[in-house]
Amino acid sequence: MSPLTITRTLPADATAAALRADVTHGLTRTPKQLPPKWFYDARGSVLFEEITRLPDYYPTRAEREILLARAGDIAAATGARTLIELGSGSSDKTRHLIGALTGLHTYLPVDVSESALAAAGRALLSDHPTLTVHALVADFQEGFPLPGTPGPRLLAFLGGTIGNLLPEERAAFLHRVRELLAPGDALLLGTDLVKDEATLVAAYDDPTGVTAEFNKNVLAVINRELGADFDPADFRHVALWNAEREWIEMRLRARKELTAKIPALDLAVTFARGEEVRTEVSAKFREDGVRAELAAAGFTLSRWWTDRAARFALSLSVRA
Ligand code: SAH
Ligand code: AVI
Repeated sequence: MSPLTITRTLPADATAAALRADVTHGLTRTPKQLPPKWFYDARGSVLFEEITRLPDYYPTRAEREILLARAGDIAAATGARTLIELGSGSSDKTRHLIGALTGLHTYLPVDVSESALAAAGRALLSDHPTLTVHALVADFQEGFPLPGTPGPRLLAFLGGTIGNLLPEERAAFLHRVRELLAPGDALLLGTDLVKDEATLVAAYDDPTGVTAEFNKNVLAVINRELGADFDPADFRHVALWNAEREWIEMRLRARKELTAKIPALDLAVTFARGEEVRTEVSAKFREDGVRAELAAAGFTLSRWWTDRAARFALSLSVRA
């Protein structure tokens, strides 16, 4: 079996510094907000996998349906020898793609969650013992070096995770992705689609409270990493549809007036009763918008596939 290589592109203290900066900035501004990447410690990664199995969380099932139907088309169109995946998580759906890419030499999953990368890499190698798996612990919003691997390359960004970036972050991200690719390389992008509010809100506010626990996990991360004393029970999980921006917002709403100490930042943060911190946006897309955002970053969208219920789309684009 090929060995699993895991490379950290950033020293651990750079991650710690990034968390300190995001928490300082995000909790001292009005309104308060935190970037969603801090959900994903080992516990957060497990909670996300639980979310993907919730009856109302349709994106994972819808995207899997498309991948099962189209993996052969994607393999034929790209002939990829290297598959790069950003925000790969468990790499579970990616298995359909890896199975179809008969000439695949190297799989390069990139994620901030080292625990998710290690588990995914081990599981994949047991099914594909000759595949080279080189995992990178990296922030896909920052520049990171990719090892030299054979082309053509296919870069996959699945799950609708692009929707967790704000519009200006998406534009910068897509430009950086384009720079990672050579002419003729391809981008496979998963985007959740605009639909009725009730379906969307149900996907982010499950009755069993798994999504609430995932949302509150960011407080557990701040407590552990920065010595803070947030009590997650003091906050209520909120998921709402912003019809103007066409995105779901997850927030944490203080149930009472409170002050949390964050010793590593020498900071005390006060919340009024009912005050919220936005912890995630999850944008939903339309075909024209996806095509335009890709074109602005130098990609030509060549294929657009949806699941039968048209809830989710996968698009294939080439570097123009
Ligand atoms: N692609 C998988 C997982 C989606 S969950 C799927 O479709 O099911 C989002 C994943 O992106 C998580 O594994 C999380 O750790 C990772 N992630 C979130 N923000 C990131 C960032 N800025 N850089 C790298 N990985 C990130
Ligand atoms: C990873 N990302 C696409 C998920 C989403 O649907 O925006 C994260 C998530 N947040 C709440 N539930 C799932």
